[in-house]
Amino acid sequence: MKPRPTSGVHLTGWGAYAPSQVLTNADLERMVDTNDEWIVSRTGIRERRIAGPRETTASMAAVAGLRAIATAGLVPDDIDLILVGTLTPDYQMPSTAALVKGAIGNTRAAAMDLAAACSGFVFGYATAQAYVASGMARHVLVIGAETLSRYTDFTDRTTCILFGDGAGAIVLSASDEPGGTLGIEITTDPAGAYFIWLPGGGAARPPSASTMAAGEHFMKMKGAETFKMAVRTLGSTALASLARAGIELADVDLVVPHQANIRIIEALARSLDFPMARIFVNVGRYGNTSAASVPLALAEAVAAGRVKKGDRLLFVVFGSGLTSGAITLEWTADPAAAARAEGIEPDDVTVMPGYLEPVNPFPPALEWLARRRLELEGGPR
Ligand code: ACO
Repeated sequence: MKPRPTSGVHLTGWGAYAPSQVLTNADLERMVDTNDEWIVSRTGIRERRIAGPRETTASMAAVAGLRAIATAGLVPDDIDLILVGTLTPDYQMPSTAALVKGAIGNTRAAAMDLAAACSGFVFGYATAQAYVASGMARHVLVIGAETLSRYTDFTDRTTCILFGDGAGAIVLSASDEPGGTLGIEITTDPAGAYFIWLPGGGAARPPSASTMAAGEHFMKMKGAETFKMAVRTLGSTALASLARAGIELADVDLVVPHQANIRIIEALARSLDFPMARIFVNVGRYGNTSAASVPLALAEAVAAGRVKKGDRLLFVVFGSGLTSGAITLEWTADPAAAARAEGIEPDDVTVMPGYLEPVNPFPPALEWLARRRLELEGGPR
């Protein structure tokens, strides 16, 4: 396809939410045969966040979403479409996006989930871009949110060290200003479909006593294969997005990559000959939060003063599928607008409960951690 810069769609709002419960490498040392040195040297991860017993993907997504709407200077009813990228929805149905719509008090938007695993946020951005560019929507809320701790096998040292919970969101809006989205590339390669997967619970292997007993409701991963494919596709996807934008990599001020593993990010930097100093990294504090990773990192990058008006940004991700995606954009918002979201906290959203009695979804393997916190601080959320 001929490179064709897109214009008229701007990132106007951003926000994030990370649960307060921290799971450190030292905590994991008590649970599986691992150690801080191995985890840090192989992944760069030092700690990750764990959603509390009353938190779900929808509740975290709603907080991040409300913060993004406030940053954009909008109110919930200004949003025409809500997209939630997640592989850990609250339920198979209804969509998490529908629950988010209720939780933030929006009365007008259509709402739907996107299943593209860790690429869910960027696939959501690409979808929102199409809606806004075509005139079908004026303001779209795009959220990446995950509660991966509830699908993590805390007896499997090859995966439980990697993942964490959280949410991030942006608002994409129509505008006649110059800048905004410049180029988008999204791809899917089913050759790697089963490199990272969650075998049980779908139509192919419906939930049963035997899928439960076999641990099929936990994420499984071929780490080394994923690693190699990730490095290859991140680089090619990033370059394709830049080609569509019609700009050079050297013109990019900040890359915000999927925060899966510091070694993957460093390998990407080497393969593109791009300085690590212009790549934002926060994997050490959150681990891999899948679809939440880029919008969570973006909100932190803006707060850290790493983004200013006129900067060229590149988001680049990969995930199960194997999916990959990259967005090149020119930042046009005032970074100080984040102050508008101050004071928005979990108590400001209410996810409508179902009619079945709620269960405590907190992972039993981490109950000792929550108990310790209760003793120290007076209780998790
Ligand atoms: N602590 C200590 N030792 C460990 C641990 C651990 N937590 N995990 C594995 N090991 C051991 C292995 O058993 C192996 O031992 P052996 O040599 O005696 O067999 C040794 O360490 C090396 O294992 P490898 O798997 O070869 O380690 P590798 O260097 O490949 O690192 C890792 C593993 C970190 C998982 C890496 O492969 C990786 O990051 N892959 C990409 C994963 C990823 O990004 N996934 C997310 C995808 S995004 C999405 O959509 C969810």
